[in-house]
Amino acid sequence: MGSEANVFSHRHLLSMDDLSRDDIGQFLTTAKMMKEVSEREVKKIPTLRGRTVINCFLEPSTRTRMSFEIAGKRLSADVINISASGSSMSKGESLKDMAGTLRAMNPDLITIRSPHSGAPFQVSEMIERCSVVNAGDGRHEHPSQSLLDIMTISEHKEAFMGLKVSIVGDILNSRVARSNIIGLKKLGAVVTICGPKTLLPVNAEEMADGVTTSIKTAVKNADVVMMLRIQKERIGQATFPNLREYSRLFGLTSERLKLAAKDVVVMHPGPVNRGVEIAPDVADGPWSVILDQVKNGVAVRMAILYLLLGGGLAQGE
Ligand code: CP
Repeated sequence: MGSEANVFSHRHLLSMDDLSRDDIGQFLTTAKMMKEVSEREVKKIPTLRGRTVINCFLEPSTRTRMSFEIAGKRLSADVINISASGSSMSKGESLKDMAGTLRAMNPDLITIRSPHSGAPFQVSEMIERCSVVNAGDGRHEHPSQSLLDIMTISEHKEAFMGLKVSIVGDILNSRVARSNIIGLKKLGAVVTICGPKTLLPVNAEEMADGVTTSIKTAVKNADVVMMLRIQKERIGQATFPNLREYSRLFGLTSERLKLAAKDVVVMHPGPVNRGVEIAPDVADGPWSVILDQVKNGVAVRMAILYLLLGGGLAQGE
């Protein structure tokens, strides 16, 4: 990697709304370099030596938590992980008190996943001299997922301008959908959202370029189809009758995929509910880039830590 100065202008990564097209481009360029580091035999550079990263996951996670941990370790940071059940929040400690406790330990960066929309914003206001990364807050946003999705699309498509991206599923409860709609529209993609009426936000028409309740309409001529998990943990009974009917009406099958562009790519942020939102042969088929998304998750999160913490690279790293 080169010795260019890190001139990234943001302290925190809280929302895709805060990023310009250039910022997104800077994340992608840096992530590409970080991917090269991850492909070396020795996957470690000393860039963040002496820096402390706390991963505070107050909701379950496999991909995001692990990739932030791997990212921090590959950059030589000291990485500490906290979960809701293993922290004093399980004994009733408030977010404010926990943030104060973390502040006293003087970390350089905190990633936070929370069931509460806005929690990372609150923490960023409570802790000075520390970067905060939103690793998914309630139904609100998941910006690092959007950046890795954008990176994955960029590896398969020539340009974002005019690219037809359809996001299908539980849009209402999906922070991945919200961040991707913002990010992809900034880059010029044409974003259609699709789901049962009860799982579409009231302002769906304002959010996306197209809104439909028909998966066939959504998939037709799409360049990218992004399937979403039904967020059972956030859905009320009244809005969602049963998974079998959902699968019949909104599941992505290879038959339905024939309507898409010939070189369509199929994405899913995970975890996947096979046979519900996506048929197993589609999830594992030649169109699927689901594991590329996971791989790029490490590179993008290395880029996030690197850019937010202003790590300068020594020549030859
Ligand atoms: N995509 C995503 O956020 O996955 P995890 O919940 O496993 O982190």
